[in-house]
Amino acid sequence: MTLNVDTSVNALREAMVAELRKLGAITSDRVADAMGAVPRHAFVPGEPLKEVYHPTRAIVTKRDASGSALSSLSEAHIQAAMLEQAQVEPGMRVLEVGSGGYNAALIGELVGASGHVTSVDIDPDIVLRAEQYLAAAGYKQIDVVQADAEHGAPANAPYDRIIVTAGAWDIPPAWSDQLTVGGRVVVPLRMRGLTRSVAFEDDGERLVSHGYRLCGFVPMQGTSAHTEQLIELDEGRVGLRVDGSRATDGNALRAALFGSRVERWSGVEVGGVEPVDDMDLWLATVADDFGLLTATAEAIDSGLVARSARMGAKAIFTDESFAYRAAARPVDTDGTRFEFGVIAHGPEADALAEEYIEQVRAWDRNHRGGPGARIEVFPATTSDDALPSGRVIDKQHTRVVISWPR
Ligand SMILES: C[S@@+](CC[C@H](N)C(=O)[O-])C[C@H]1O[C@@H](n2cnc3c(N)ncnc32)[C@H](O)[C@@H]1O
Repeated sequence: MTLNVDTSVNALREAMVAELRKLGAITSDRVADAMGAVPRHAFVPGEPLKEVYHPTRAIVTKRDASGSALSSLSEAHIQAAMLEQAQVEPGMRVLEVGSGGYNAALIGELVGASGHVTSVDIDPDIVLRAEQYLAAAGYKQIDVVQADAEHGAPANAPYDRIIVTAGAWDIPPAWSDQLTVGGRVVVPLRMRGLTRSVAFEDDGERLVSHGYRLCGFVPMQGTSAHTEQLIELDEGRVGLRVDGSRATDGNALRAALFGSRVERWSGVEVGGVEPVDDMDLWLATVADDFGLLTATAEAIDSGLVARSARMGAKAIFTDESFAYRAAARPVDTDGTRFEFGVIAHGPEADALAEEYIEQVRAWDRNHRGGPGARIEVFPATTSDDALPSGRVIDKQHTRVVISWPR
């Protein structure tokens, strides 16, 4: 009986690793070996094994009173991709922000006996479970620390790598201070409402990106928790989520939502599986006022807003008008190619729709399939004239600059 369970767990783990390679999340044998070695199910006992070893499912391990996730075993897909981004080598000292045990064990495999892993979590329950599960799985050399990661984990610093596993709005100075020069921070960074796992290297003056990828994470709690502004457009049914844009009271936008709308199509097509998240980051870079239009299923079903709003439709806006991306429409009979379009409301609907479409075309012409954006992080005290040109996003501790080298 035990043999059968072990055999099926091993088969599920091997299948997960094979699928992660196919999806491009695992690109090295070292990360494949680590994911093949750590018993993922030991960190979420009692959960169905098929869910645990599903490559793109997270398992929530703690929720707040309203049901929102506070902690989870992250998707194996993003964990693998972030480990590849981090380029962890044997003998390194690594800080993980946000615990659970599994990812720390993976890092433990990568650094080996000569390295060291510290994992910090703000939540005492999560620290306790991580410690218990790590010990039970035989990973006794990992330090799990209870603290707000705003201050890093100074006792074991400096670190060659910092891997952040909660959605961060800013990069606290402690992380840069506790990182070796030339070290890497991999962090799911929120920029104008979009989250990308960015691999940053520290050159002593600034952090500069070496690649990024789309991801979603539970939000950072504690000192560095951050709430975006929500402009209510229809009493909890439709809203515009904005961050780092000009404030607007939303009265005219509410009126615009219930007025007529225009629809425009770009002629820019995409295949069903091609990632287009860079188009969103491009728009967030070039638009002065950018946000995410969100809506309940009821508002979508009533026809008030398009179904693209279900996951947050990328939008641009003025005080009186807004334009958001429509759900892409099929352009062939077998449904493999889709065209991007836009829906706009308000007195400037035509002009905003045109502006949006122009930016979709500019992305298609100049950046599609290219190296993507460069993201640089400077201390908040850096003056404007010392920053490179690009979209500047001011945070509490830092100034983030996004530019698009060609
Ligand atoms: C997605 S979970 C971590 C997953 C984990 N790395 C794993 O192995 O699957 C995110 C964690 O970040 C923690 N967290 C949130 N804000 C924090 C903060 N300010 N300092 C430290 N930990 C924080 C949460 O308590 C939560 O446990």
